[in-house]
Amino acid sequence: MNLSDFRTHYEPLIQQELADLIQSLSIPASLKDSMHYSLQAGGKRIRPILLLAVLHELGDGHPDALKVAAAIEMIHTYSLIHDDLPSMDNDDLRRGMPTNHKVFGEAVAILAGDALLTYSFGVVARLQHVDSEDKVRLIDLMSVSAGAEGMVGGQVLDIEGEEKKLGLEELEQVHRLKTGALLTYSILAGAILAKATDEEIVALSRFGQHLGLAFQIQDDILDVTGTSEELGKTAGKDESSEKSTYPGLLTLPKAKEKLDYHAGEALKAIAELGGTKPLLEELTALIVKRKS
Ligand code: IPE
Ligand code: IPE
Ligand code: MG
Ligand code: MG
Ligand code: MG
Repeated sequence: MNLSDFRTHYEPLIQQELADLIQSLSIPASLKDSMHYSLQAGGKRIRPILLLAVLHELGDGHPDALKVAAAIEMIHTYSLIHDDLPSMDNDDLRRGMPTNHKVFGEAVAILAGDALLTYSFGVVARLQHVDSEDKVRLIDLMSVSAGAEGMVGGQVLDIEGEEKKLGLEELEQVHRLKTGALLTYSILAGAILAKATDEEIVALSRFGQHLGLAFQIQDDILDVTGTSEELGKTAGKDESSEKSTYPGLLTLPKAKEKLDYHAGEALKAIAELGGTKPLLEELTALIVKRKS
């Protein structure tokens, strides 16, 4: 199956899993509407697709794969709701729609983010077809990747990097944490479900690290070269917020060179898995050429 067919097959299933997970909650209507709003607003579902693609390449899939994929997408969506808040990036547009706080107010938006985050851990804890040891591994790595040592720590460094010029190494660390950590987790969660070997886990970690950097470098580039319509979020936001970014620090052509370098290293890591891994190769290419 090529990537396009793979995505066409799985995207509605991811969408349905997310809708079912929220629908099953007995919670205040405003909270449910707010969580549902941001999850169903669209988005590329790159993290769920990465998890499912790793599982597909290493074996025959897993009966709990969609649940773990949905849990990761809930964490990612919470991170976007909070990223857009006035006290953070102060954005009005996300996934082509008004941001969560614009529709539901800041208090409900913050709490919807909190609820998505905490729910995701419960979803993984209640998996039916994963043994306890692997469940603990999934939950532990999820906590590290999404939390203070991962995405949240990266978001703090990103905010502190406004209006001050970070060096390349510092900027790389921001990108590794704020974006790379959760992307890598998506890949490793697939590997855990597939009962991957230690060697495969090492290669997939390297794949994730380079892919994560490539992904955020392209996000920085698109902020300069894309339109709000294409992106579904406000273009030119990084410059107006004086963010530290790859194009800002290096110029656009040099940022593109870095993007190609990390994509190349990601492909080398895939090659270490042995055999061809067409879905992962196509996903790497997609991340380089994506327009949104
Ligand atoms: C945007 O992520 C935020 C970053 C970490 C760069 P995506 O580009 O995956 O956003 P959606 O999920 O498609 O909306
Ligand atoms: C966000 O980085 C990373 C997150 C953890 C959400 P950005 O602030 O660049 O993401 P966008 O451009 O608003 O999607
Ligand atoms: Mg941000
Ligand atoms: Mg932002
Ligand atoms: Mg951005």
